[in-house]
Amino acid sequence: MPLSKPRLVQTVQHRVPPLHRADLAGVLVSETDLQKRIAVMGRAISKDYAGKDVLVVSLLSGTVLFLADLLRRMSFPLRVDFLGVSSYGAGTESGDLVFTKDLRLDVRGVHVLVVDDILDTGKTLRAVTGKIAALRPASLRTCVLLDKRERRIESIEADYVGFRIPNLFVVGYGLDFAERYRNLPFVGVLRPEVFEANARPERKGPR
Ligand code: XMP
Repeated sequence: MPLSKPRLVQTVQHRVPPLHRADLAGVLVSETDLQKRIAVMGRAISKDYAGKDVLVVSLLSGTVLFLADLLRRMSFPLRVDFLGVSSYGAGTESGDLVFTKDLRLDVRGVHVLVVDDILDTGKTLRAVTGKIAALRPASLRTCVLLDKRERRIESIEADYVGFRIPNLFVVGYGLDFAERYRNLPFVGVLRPEVFEANARPERKGPR
């Protein structure tokens, strides 16, 4: 069970800005809702980690915007490191995992908080937590912005969850399709026609 109750998002609620209407079917989480929820998550995390030696481990590259906003809401001394993970597979399906960048800092004996963009099948978080746990941190918790619980294959839950969302392929706010859309300030739903037209058999692309 997450340590704080995630916000449930069930339907696409917001209108898409005209520039993105050809590619996006709707806005699932608005910029305002993202910022409000991240402020709440930051407060909860700050309370839980007060006085501890914390290392935030962010998974590249989908977490960039979430991490930047969340870090500003964490009011305690911390360090940040990055782990590169790529999933390879067809189209929007999760495939095999490859670590593309290792940690620089030593995690042994420190409190590690892994930050990821979205928890989907759970394969990524399972592999990452397994790798970090083997390095003997003092504690290990996970924080994700989005949770697509319906798609879970591995039995894994994140400790801090921003929004629980339906089974839709989402982009924006760091999340990409074929490296595009990361810069959108909201989380949008990609039109199926877009990923069907662009599905490449060899690779989903770096995260
Ligand atoms: P797993 O299946 O390992 O997936 O939990 C985690 C990683 O897969 C990517 N992912 C997505 N990326 N829109 C995206 O842009 C999505 O709807 C989506 N679902 C999964 C993402 O990189 C995540 O860290």
